[in-house]
Amino acid sequence: RRHIFQLTTGSKNINAILGGGIESMAITEVFGESRSGKTQLAHTLCVTAQLPNEAQEYQGGKVMFIDTESTFRPDRIKPIADRFELDSSGVLENILCARAYNSEQLYELLTSAGNVFHKDPGMFKLLIIDSIMAPFRVDFIGAGEMSERQTKLGLMLSKLQKMSEEYNIAVFLTNQITTDMSQPLTLLNNAEVKPIGGNVLAHATTTRMVLKRGQFQERIAKIYGSPNLEEQETKFDITLGGITD
Ligand code: GTP
Ligand code: MG
Repeated sequence: RRHIFQLTTGSKNINAILGGGIESMAITEVFGESRSGKTQLAHTLCVTAQLPNEAQEYQGGKVMFIDTESTFRPDRIKPIADRFELDSSGVLENILCARAYNSEQLYELLTSAGNVFHKDPGMFKLLIIDSIMAPFRVDFIGAGEMSERQTKLGLMLSKLQKMSEEYNIAVFLTNQITTDMSQPLTLLNNAEVKPIGGNVLAHATTTRMVLKRGQFQERIAKIYGSPNLEEQETKFDITLGGITD
């Protein structure tokens, strides 16, 4: 029997508002302004997915990192692996990184990823896309192409949903926010940030979380519009060793 497992984010506070961590057989999305910590959380999960967890009968496993913005930094993995007392070269070998330059390539990469998961059942535990909307934003410009964009996005997300369930994998997506230029700039900082991707993305994701930059180095994470989780928020920190409290 396959058990749903939860990956630690590195922050006990964030794990708590998520109800344990980043869950398998589900799609978790984080969105937020630039430098809010989305990519750093993705890097932390690359390591924690490889941590065995006796309480959950979880052995740890490999990670597929699909990079649409050239954000994967192998050198960030070593200090995070050190923090969790894992051998950093082994950890790096277990992260398969692929670059997608447009939405079609992203779709093809998912098909290849599915083949890889199929060949090695149970080996992969986490699939990351950093970020999901970036290629769609480039490929489909303007209101006239919006419905085609959303149709293609929907196809990709249903594929992701199937993959997460079929292979018992946690899917972790990062996303960008709208920059509503109708708001005066002074208000923009305080305005409620909204993810892009519309209803299609909203309906496909199991859990959504917004990351924010507070004063100084402070970071805040908040559950966003989740049917099964309270909309709690908490502080977290970004360090050399990855995401922490
Ligand atoms: P975009 O991709 O631009 O939307 O931003 P993001 O949300 O992905 O931000 P990212 O996760 O890349 O966070 C970048 C921030 O993490 C930087 O501003 C640093 O403050 C912090 N950071 C990155 N690496 C380190 C590190 O090694 N040590 C510490 N202390 N902080 C780091
Ligand atoms: Mg990023």
